Amino acid sequence: MSQSSRHDAWQAGDSYDIYMGRWSRGIAPRFLDWLSPQRQLDWLDVGCGTGALSAAILARCDPKSLLSIDPSEGFLTKARAALQDNRVHFRQGDAQDLPVEAASRDRIVSALVLNFVPDRGKALAEMKRVARPGATVAFYVWDYPGGGIAFMRAFWTTATALDPAASDLTEDRRFPFCTPRDLTALAEKAGLSSVTCEAIEIPTVFADFDDYWVPFTLGAGPAPGYCASLAEDARQRLKERLRDSLPRNPDGSIPLTARAWAVRGRC
Ligand SMILES: C[S@@+](CC[C@H](N)C(=O)[O-])C[C@H]1O[C@@H](n2cnc3c(N)ncnc32)[C@H](O)[C@@H]1O
Repeated sequence: MSQSSRHDAWQAGDSYDIYMGRWSRGIAPRFLDWLSPQRQLDWLDVGCGTGALSAAILARCDPKSLLSIDPSEGFLTKARAALQDNRVHFRQGDAQDLPVEAASRDRIVSALVLNFVPDRGKALAEMKRVARPGATVAFYVWDYPGGGIAFMRAFWTTATALDPAASDLTEDRRFPFCTPRDLTALAEKAGLSSVTCEAIEIPTVFADFDDYWVPFTLGAGPAPGYCASLAEDARQRLKERLRDSLPRNPDGSIPLTARAWAVRGRC
């Protein structure tokens, strides 16, 4: 594990859902609308996690079949329990070596995953390998370099002011390639054609400060992993500084937004 990825943690599905799953559930339907898929297709969800995108595919796309893959047995257990539908099958696996037959899928999608995969080029080549001729390969990642995921950016701005050594952990430093230009180039290099990239933005409104803060203490994901690693007094300092710095609505809620870059291409 690299130094910067040492706090990535993909095991606790309940904690992940409170931290990120609630927002990835919000963005998944918007992504599927953008794809405007036909019905009765064979889908593959790469890095399905606790099942945010898989659930949206089942609810909106009338798939013939859906194969959902993730390396984390903990996340798969949660996804299996939540999605009891005979069209979906779950399999443990890695995006860089998909346990999927070549040319067997019509829609290959991946949500908020590619930046965590060590060899992204290999992952996209694998997604293309399992695609039928004419199939669509599509994915989205947060706009980390543009500060598009504001609740995370606010966390790291404050955390690194208190602990400059944490700078190499921030997602904008770790994932500078999450830009339209680099993501489009990645898809084109994998041999996809007619590649397009679009921003998808959703509101991420926290009811109050606890609603914002508690997910960071649960340890699932890079920023929560870092937060959980802090000593109690350091965590308390971070909490207080954040409480003072976040924007507020008159009712105490915290209005932020999250923007992803969505990319699609044809095989
Ligand atoms: C931010 S979560 C996204 C989960 C889900 N797609 C969603 O939208 O909520 C990142 C996911 O990538 C998975 N992941 C990490 N490395 C991976 C790899 N090499 N291949 C496939 N998935 C990977 C993690 O297990 C985790 O489920």
